[in-house]
Amino acid sequence: MKNIVVLVSGGGTNLQALIDAEKRGEIHNGKITCVISSKEDAYALERAANNGIKSLVLPRKEYSDNESYGKAMLELLKAENADLIILAGFMTILDKSVINAFPNKIINVHPALIPSFCGVGYYGLRVHEEALRKGVKVTGATVHFVNEIADDGAIILQGTSEVRYGDTPEILQRRVMEEVEWKLLPKAASLFCEDRIFIEDGKAYIK
Ligand code: GAR
Repeated sequence: MKNIVVLVSGGGTNLQALIDAEKRGEIHNGKITCVISSKEDAYALERAANNGIKSLVLPRKEYSDNESYGKAMLELLKAENADLIILAGFMTILDKSVINAFPNKIINVHPALIPSFCGVGYYGLRVHEEALRKGVKVTGATVHFVNEIADDGAIILQGTSEVRYGDTPEILQRRVMEEVEWKLLPKAASLFCEDRIFIEDGKAYIK
């Protein structure tokens, strides 16, 4: 059984989707063993508590740079014996020391079809604002491995949502979460825990 550590910063609806999937028996060979938040007031922490999952707070604001934050995070992840780390609305760039310690073992969900609307500065609602500004007709979400470049790691799963006339960033965000993120993130977690994802030429494939 693999230990899944989920990193969060906010509302934690993706964490909830993972918890619900685990309860339904849909995360094969994996168990959420710890939730780590970069913010002490993240609602995701309540979700962990409500479901009897251990949680820790590592406040980003108490560290002067990414490097020192990464060092502290790495210690926690090692102490928790993390096999899979899931960034579920984690709004901090992870230092390379963490990424190098867990190659292709960190998964992120990004609320757009990478390589669109991604990279530094594209997070949360901002991603949907940009999609609406551009007028794309289809958007979606991507689950991918994390490497040293923001939103650049191997793509594991992608799914689409329509953009509709009159959408606001909030409406579009909700649709993408419901239709794509909350389904694909637990699915990718399960595939990982079952050792069904492999990398070839820097790209991820499912066995
Ligand atoms: C989600 O839409 C997630 O894809 C996005 O933030 C939201 C978090 O919601 N993540 C990023 O933008 C990362 N670049 P949640 O806290 O309710 O899961």
